Amino acid sequence: MCGIVGYVGRAEAAPILLDGLRRLEYRGYDSAGVAIVDGDHVETRKCAGRIAGLSKLMAEHPAPGTYGISHTRWATHGKPTDQNAHPHFDESGKLALVHNGVIENYQQIKDALLQEGPHHFTSETDTEVLAHLVGKIYDDSAVGVVDPRRHKALLVEALRTALQQVIGTYGIALVHADIPDFIVGARRGSPLVLGVGKDENFLASDVSAIVAHTRDAVYLNDFDLVAVERDKFEISSLAGERGSHAISKVEFTAEDIKKGDYPHYMLKEIFEQPGSVRDAMRGRLSVEECTAKLGGLNMTPAQLRDVGRVVLTGCGTALHAGMVGEYLIEQLAHIPVEVEYASEFRHRNTPMTTDTLVFAISQSGETADTLGALRESKRKGHRTLGICNNVASTIARESDGGVYMHAGPEIGVAATKSFTSQVVILTLIGLLLGRMRHLSTAEGSSIIAALESLPEKIEQILKMSDQIKEVAKKYVKATGMLFFGRQFNFPIALEAALKLKEITYLYAEGHPSAELKHGVIALVKPELPSVFIAPDDAVFSKNMNNIEQVRARKGPIIAVTTASGAAKLKGIADDIITVPDADDIVMPVLTVIPLQLFAYHLAVALGRDVDKPRNLAKSVTVE
Ligand code: AGP
Ligand code: GLU
Repeated sequence: MCGIVGYVGRAEAAPILLDGLRRLEYRGYDSAGVAIVDGDHVETRKCAGRIAGLSKLMAEHPAPGTYGISHTRWATHGKPTDQNAHPHFDESGKLALVHNGVIENYQQIKDALLQEGPHHFTSETDTEVLAHLVGKIYDDSAVGVVDPRRHKALLVEALRTALQQVIGTYGIALVHADIPDFIVGARRGSPLVLGVGKDENFLASDVSAIVAHTRDAVYLNDFDLVAVERDKFEISSLAGERGSHAISKVEFTAEDIKKGDYPHYMLKEIFEQPGSVRDAMRGRLSVEECTAKLGGLNMTPAQLRDVGRVVLTGCGTALHAGMVGEYLIEQLAHIPVEVEYASEFRHRNTPMTTDTLVFAISQSGETADTLGALRESKRKGHRTLGICNNVASTIARESDGGVYMHAGPEIGVAATKSFTSQVVILTLIGLLLGRMRHLSTAEGSSIIAALESLPEKIEQILKMSDQIKEVAKKYVKATGMLFFGRQFNFPIALEAALKLKEITYLYAEGHPSAELKHGVIALVKPELPSVFIAPDDAVFSKNMNNIEQVRARKGPIIAVTTASGAAKLKGIADDIITVPDADDIVMPVLTVIPLQLFAYHLAVALGRDVDKPRNLAKSVTVE
């Protein structure tokens, strides 16, 4: 939710900030703005809408200067208007601040400020209240102080004092017109990373904004404040202690986050799946021992054997991967698994046994609800592991261990390759836990073979993209869509429905096929197609019954099935998409891909903004 970029150096700040914002636009895109200090005043440009609008504005009204801050917003408080766009200013108009997160007690702070003196608020945001608070504390403390170095310390101190009064979450960057070449940042709950350059430094919500300039990064922790200058930076804690942080090398380059020849990131990422699935298992399969090797779990064989229960938690697509994981781990390891919405888990008192192992699943590793679930689980003393893509993310850093996806940057708001990587990793976890229990070497070997066959089978599915596009185009007039599947493919019905909702804005629901007759069937009509995910497996004939029930009520049917299933569905389903045959265990990795492509092509046919669908943001760092 929202992206922040800050720059202090010798180059013109504007192009660096705008380029960084473009790379962060996936995080939020309802309005954008910059504040650049020019001499002794702060120039600001901001407007509702996309970064392209801000670029145009800045081309017409340039803002010169070599340090500044910028923001792309996903509104939580106040509509996406020019006035509500960040940066926001304090009463003096000299301090500009950008913020990612939510100041929960902004109303109390605002009331107190108004009681103390005149404050003119020009927006409906919680952020502006914080800008006024920091500005007031700074102004009060700076009266009569002439030493410029003292001003720097006082600004940091003002931010610290203000944040000590704040309830909520924040990633912050601020500048002050009276303090040249100086940016202050802070984080709690929203990510913030410092990019260390040569005679220039950066602040950003995500390294992708700055990787074109430097690959040396310092990932700030919650309650860190950072004072950034051209040639140095200083980290301290909210409590006022000096901190030290290691500089890490960013894993990817600016090339990795380019769209290449693809029209959309989502399509690029769908097509990357043969490689990302391979990378999820690379070096993690032991053919000799017929098991998986997951050293990152940081658990001894005895500890793994003692696991009595598993909780998988996450949001959205990650939760759906967890639901596939439930089937996988229960089948392979016979360990009871529960899948918990992270947002519910963190606030309810789930009964937990001492032998429960918790996994927080998150592509970004920054999702506020999943992070909250992780912290709640750790607080209760449970071993809590992460399944993350973003190596430097908060969830990855705060978990007791885990498994990285190594899927490469995922920019499209609709998650695709991260889902298949998560499912593969959960299969590895099931295999490992199973092989420590009853699973035989033969069974272990056949699962490894099934996993190893995936990349090639995914390639075959991707070759069908044009055919799937033709199917999708037939349904541009549909008023919505229903998705059904059984067993391993029930979560795929949920995931396919989520993909369709997110990028086509069509109403969509996913259900276990058999639930149809318990209510959903009332919706069936010629304008509402049903998609059945029905490979020719042990429950195929049951799916057939449900397909016939829809057909009898004139509902159009699209089937995702295997070759033998396709033969049986000929003349029954209106459209058939055939995926290669595979073991039930790995089938969800295959069945989801044509449905990602289906949602993509339908969204393009409907003229939707596939990579930046309305109202959404890639990384949801607010509750
Ligand atoms: C997926 O298409 C969605 N954009 C969304 O549901 C996402 O999966 C969810 O917000 C969780 O994100 P995370 O994996 O980064 O935690
Ligand atoms: N709460 C702030 C706002 O509504 C920041 C939201 C964000 O993270 O983009 O403007």
